[in-house]
Amino acid sequence: MKVEILPDKDEFFREFTVRICSCLTIKPALESVCNYLKEIVPLDMMILAERDESLGSFRTVAEAAVDASLPTPTILAIPKDLWMRIRSLNYRSTFLADDSVSNDVRELNAISKLYGLSHMCIPLWRDDNMIGFLSLFAKGSGKYHQAHADLFDTIIHPATIALSNALAHEELMRYRDTLIDENRFLNKELLNATTRIIGETTGLKQVIEMVKQVAPLNNTVLLLGETGTGKEIIANAIHSASPRKNGPFIKVNCGAIPEHLIDSELFGHDKGAFTGAISEKKGRFERANGGTIFLDEIGELPQLAQVRLLRVLQTREFERVGGTRAIKVDIRIIAATHRNLENMVTENRFREDLWFRLNAFPLFIPPLRQRKEDIPMLARYFLQVKSRELGLRMPPSIAPGVLSRLAEYAWPGNVRELENLVERELIRHREGPLSFDTLEPRTPPTAIAARNPGAITNLDQVNFNHISAVLEMTGGRIQGPHGAAALLGIKATTLRGRMDKLGIPYGRKN
Ligand SMILES: Nc1ncnc2c1ncn2[C@@H]1O[C@H](COP(=O)(O)OP(=O)(O)OP(=O)(O)O)[C@@H](O)[C@H]1O
Ligand SMILES: [Mg+2]
Repeated sequence: MKVEILPDKDEFFREFTVRICSCLTIKPALESVCNYLKEIVPLDMMILAERDESLGSFRTVAEAAVDASLPTPTILAIPKDLWMRIRSLNYRSTFLADDSVSNDVRELNAISKLYGLSHMCIPLWRDDNMIGFLSLFAKGSGKYHQAHADLFDTIIHPATIALSNALAHEELMRYRDTLIDENRFLNKELLNATTRIIGETTGLKQVIEMVKQVAPLNNTVLLLGETGTGKEIIANAIHSASPRKNGPFIKVNCGAIPEHLIDSELFGHDKGAFTGAISEKKGRFERANGGTIFLDEIGELPQLAQVRLLRVLQTREFERVGGTRAIKVDIRIIAATHRNLENMVTENRFREDLWFRLNAFPLFIPPLRQRKEDIPMLARYFLQVKSRELGLRMPPSIAPGVLSRLAEYAWPGNVRELENLVERELIRHREGPLSFDTLEPRTPPTAIAARNPGAITNLDQVNFNHISAVLEMTGGRIQGPHGAAALLGIKATTLRGRMDKLGIPYGRKN
C-alpha cells in the first residue's frame, strides 16, 4: 500500500544504500530496492543503465519491474544529433523526464518505446563523466513531483557506486570467461603435445608421409576418414610440423555450435551487434591469426556459414558481425569430416565451390580394420596411458590370445572405440589379466558369420546384434555426428523404428 507521506531523507538514504549494496550481482539488489520503493512512490519499473559513449547509446545493466508486461529496452541506439543534444544538457540532479519536459526527452522516450508513462531520471556522474542513469517509471502521466526528485537526489552517490561496481563486476566476469576459454585451449594443446601417433611407420605410414609433404606449405588440407580414425590428431601433427607451430591451433567443431551463433563464433562480433553483445569478441578466425584453424565436422556447417567460409578461403578476409571493417588474417585452414562431401554436393547440402576449394589436398585416414597391424600396438599404448591416468603403478597384463582377437574385430568406432574399450576393461579389471571378454557380443555379425557360418540364421538377429553393438559403442547415442544412426548410415528416425521393431532398449550411457 502506498503511503502519502514521503520518508525521512536519512532513513530513505540508509534503506536504499543497504539494499543496493545487498548483493554482488546488481539485478537482485535492484529488485530489493524496487520492492522497497514501490511502497513509497508510484513505481512500475526501474532501469539502471550504462551510457556508452563509443556506441552513442544507453545499455540496460539491470532492470526491476513491478509490472512484468512493460517492455525493457536492452540497448538504446540514439540518433547522433539527439545524442549530442542530450550530452550537452548536463543534468546533474534528479529530473522529471515526462514527455512534456522537452522535445529531446519526448524523442528519447519514444525511442525507448515507453509510452504513457511518467518517468523520473537520476543521472549518475563520476567526476565529469555521466556514466549512466537510474530511471523510475510509473503508468499514467504526472505521477512524479519535485518532492520525489528532491528525495532521490539523496541517493545519487550510492546509486553511482552501485553502477560502477556492477560494470566492474561485469568486466571481471568477462575476463574470467576469456581466461576459462584460453585455459581450455592451452590444456588441450598441452594434451595434444604429449599425444603420440601410433602406427607412423606401419598402418599410417602413407598418411604421415603426406603430412610431412604438406606441413611446410600453406595450403588448405581436407582430412577424410571415419569417425575415430584420428583426424584431429593428424590435424595437430600438420600444425606441429609446420612453420606455424608456435602460433595458435584453434579448433572449431562446426557441428557443435548452434546455428544462430556460428557467425559470431567464427568471425566475432562488435560491441552492440545484437542483444547480449555487451563487448566486442574476437572470433575463432581472428584468434587463429598466425597459426592454424581446424574446422572439424565441416560437413555440418550450415549453408549461410558455408558462403562466408568460402569468402575467407578466397580472400583471407572477413568482417565481424555488426562490424564494417574488413579484418585480414594470416591463417592455415585444415578441415575434417567423416561425411562423403561429394555426395552432399550432389544432394545440394554442401556448396560445390566450397568443396572444390577444400578438396585441393584431401588426405584420407584409413579405418582401423584396414590397418590391423597397428591394433596390438595401439592397445598396449592405451593400456599404458590409461593406467597412468588411473594412477596404477604397473599396467596389468593382457591375457594370451586377446591381441589377435582384437585384431579381428571390425572396429566401427575405430581408434576411439579401442581407446574407450581399453579404459573400460582397465576399470573393470585393475589387477589384470585383461581378457576383453565384453568384446565378443559387440563383434559385428558379419565378422561372426565369416568365422562361423552356422552361427547366424535369422536376419533380424543379425540386425539386433549389429545395432546393439553400435549403440554400445556410441554409449546409446542415436543422433548427431557420433550417433549410431550416422555410423550405420541411416536416418535417426529409421534407426528408432528398427529398434522398436527389434525390441532394442533405449538409453544414453554418456
Ligand atoms: N594413431 C593414433 N595414435 C594414438 N592415438 C590415436 C591415434 N589415432 C587416434 N588416436 C586417439 O583416438 C581418439 C580419436 O582420435 P581423433 O579424435 O583424432 O579422431 P577423429 O577422426 O577426429 O574422430 P571424430 O570423427 O569422431 O571426431 C583420440 O583420443 C586420439 O588421441
Ligand atoms: Mg574429430
